[in-house]
Amino acid sequence: MSTVFLNGEYLPKDEAKISVDDRGFLFADGVYEVTPFYAGVPFHLERHLDRLRRGLAWMRIDFDVESLVEVHERLLDENGVRDAESSLVYLQITRGVAPRSHPFPAEPVEPTVYAFAKAWTRPSDETWEKGYTAITIPDRRWTRVDVKTIALLPNVFAYQAAVDAGVTDAIQVRDGIALEGAHNNFFGVFDGTVVTHPKTNVILPGVTRSVVLELAAANGIPVEERPIQVEELPHADELFFTGTSSEVRPTVEVDGRKVGDGKPGPVTRALSKAFMKEVERMKGIPRG
Ligand SMILES: Cc1ncc(COP(=O)(O)O)c(C=O)c1O
Repeated sequence: MSTVFLNGEYLPKDEAKISVDDRGFLFADGVYEVTPFYAGVPFHLERHLDRLRRGLAWMRIDFDVESLVEVHERLLDENGVRDAESSLVYLQITRGVAPRSHPFPAEPVEPTVYAFAKAWTRPSDETWEKGYTAITIPDRRWTRVDVKTIALLPNVFAYQAAVDAGVTDAIQVRDGIALEGAHNNFFGVFDGTVVTHPKTNVILPGVTRSVVLELAAANGIPVEERPIQVEELPHADELFFTGTSSEVRPTVEVDGRKVGDGKPGPVTRALSKAFMKEVERMKGIPRG
């Protein structure tokens, strides 16, 4: 039985209960974060907490995220995943409990704070080398997907569409632009330049995305943040996704058509290597 964090308490998961009046349950009125750990060391936790801080501010939910650093650490220990090669902490904050009515509660209520930790398995070298496949699908989300809300129904449908099609990822397309995946950011490589959508309201500003862009620049790989037209996809030399559990994930086929020679390309490979080097660097930084 795993131990979860709920509203200040560490509890066996089956004892953690929330009210049917929780606005997260009724309205998806909340935000979430997922922070990866490698060998028990957080990977850019500050960036995840910053995104959470910004999301809470936009949602007008008053909660101080500082206390969550300790929650992350303790959940790893409580659940025996401190030594796992890769683990993550999922954290969700909703507006709290109030009788069902659309506007925010007139009197402030305590936000509901829930978190759990679990190990996850990095892909084997063999899986990575084989590459991943994707389909393009219409983006059916609202126009503030830069806020990491728990309202993920269109993302659920996007991912399910990929599963139904027997592929690993879905590229969400809006107004002819290939924006991002169901749970990861999307990149193309065109003539040696790494291209990804700029940070606007139509993509989630991924932490992995920002790290990979910085690593590309540091390694002398040209970077351009601009929309990628769906018509450009057949002409891409390489395509890849980034995300907390996707890391740098090469896409070798889109809508049944090979990308490049159908194998992970050199730029994706270089960025994946640089990413794992960054993981190793972070593991070496003393905490405290
Ligand atoms: C829609 C979407 N895009 C991108 C990402 C990648 O973000 P990160 O790299 O911070 O995990 C996620 C992660 O959950 C996501 O849901």
